[in-house]
Amino acid sequence: MQKILIRGGRTLRGEVPISGAKNAVLPIQCATLLADGPCRIDNVPRLQDVLTTARLLEGLGAKVEHAGSTMTVDAAHLDSHVAPYELVKTMRASVLVLGPLLAKYHDAEVSLPGGCAIGSRPVDLHLKGLQALGAEITVDHGFIRARCDGRLKGARHVFELVSVGATENVLMAATLAEGRTILENAAMEPEIADLADCLNAMGARISGAGTPRIVVEGVPRLSGCTHRVIADRIETGTFLVAAAMTGGRVTTTGARPHTLDAVLGKLREAGAEIAVEKDHITLDMHGRRPQAVNITTAPHPAFPTDMQAQFMALDCVAEGVGIINETIFENRFMHVNELLRLGADIRVDGHTAVVRGVERLQGAPVMATDLRASASLILAGLAADGDTVIDRVYHLDRGYENIEAKLGALGADIRRID
Ligand code: EPZ
Repeated sequence: MQKILIRGGRTLRGEVPISGAKNAVLPIQCATLLADGPCRIDNVPRLQDVLTTARLLEGLGAKVEHAGSTMTVDAAHLDSHVAPYELVKTMRASVLVLGPLLAKYHDAEVSLPGGCAIGSRPVDLHLKGLQALGAEITVDHGFIRARCDGRLKGARHVFELVSVGATENVLMAATLAEGRTILENAAMEPEIADLADCLNAMGARISGAGTPRIVVEGVPRLSGCTHRVIADRIETGTFLVAAAMTGGRVTTTGARPHTLDAVLGKLREAGAEIAVEKDHITLDMHGRRPQAVNITTAPHPAFPTDMQAQFMALDCVAEGVGIINETIFENRFMHVNELLRLGADIRVDGHTAVVRGVERLQGAPVMATDLRASASLILAGLAADGDTVIDRVYHLDRGYENIEAKLGALGADIRRID
């Protein structure tokens, strides 16, 4: 099992290109199931979850070509509408094939995704939204079976709580429904707006994506398209935190600053000087130690839960005390025990962590438990004295493309070891 070795204490400086957004490309890959012709997706990052989704589409009978950062999917002629447990258990986002298969073929079976390290991750909101469009859904023997007689029917549906995946699944299904669908209390993440842009390029008629109210005029069919995936705002935030923790100066290129307002605001509060222009974000820490910040995660445009672990690492080496409230997932503090091994001072009480900054963390062997937890361990290792070895880095490879090459180019002493 591969590990990453970091020799901490280096100041990061330079420019880093940001890859395509994992959480945009995964639903967009699933959306290709709706098209009558091939879809070409550009700026696709080479991530384990992207490869898993490609395998899932091929398992349904789609033809997938992946060259460099371009992926072409032709799902015009499927020979299965069943997403098997073997794949779904490794990646929850597989459930996003349910809406497209149901809308296009009026029949779909997807293994019930299990939970994962950060929580039970139910899909009840996905199913209620599809039922609102007329789907008959049964769940038994670990499988979700969704079917409908003829086309789905457009409807007005209010999500009980904000859910990124449920919004995406129901939005994709609504594109081929008969009539108008209005989704209220929809998630507003930028990845949903990117998905809608791709669907509209296929001939869908969606307005309001990225706001709490999305309106879809159903169409009888969708065609192939070409779409370039937006840059990954969470990868961007992760590199900016790395610069802030090592007192450096880093420019990220690709991500639009307005998708990161809450994160940039917290970095400024931590004492960073931040300049933005078009898709360049420059963070300069001027060699200073960060100030501790308080974080409460919430749906976009509030502070993203996917940046919580990274900011906990920052608070670990900051001046003062930071209080972190995780309101989205019930078990997203798995990185705490590993940060404690590096000498951090953290006390957890339910969904709240109180982090008292220390002058220096001490390098040590640690273990990744989930994607963003592994990112926080990388960041802590960069700022620690001595060597940090992170085990189970397959978690990291799910969401970060070439992270050690990108950090190495910024001056970090980091390499992969067996
Ligand atoms: C997406 O997960 C992201 N994944 C997650 O990123 C991200 O943390 C999350 O949105 C929140 O922003 C992808 O886009 C592939 P939710 P998703 O549905 O859609 C509860 C990463 O690190 N809920 O918005 O699964 C759920 O348990 C990953 O890149 C229900 O109760 O998140 C959670 O408490 C991790 N019933 C809350 O809603 C449902 O049917 C928000 O979950 C669905 C969700």
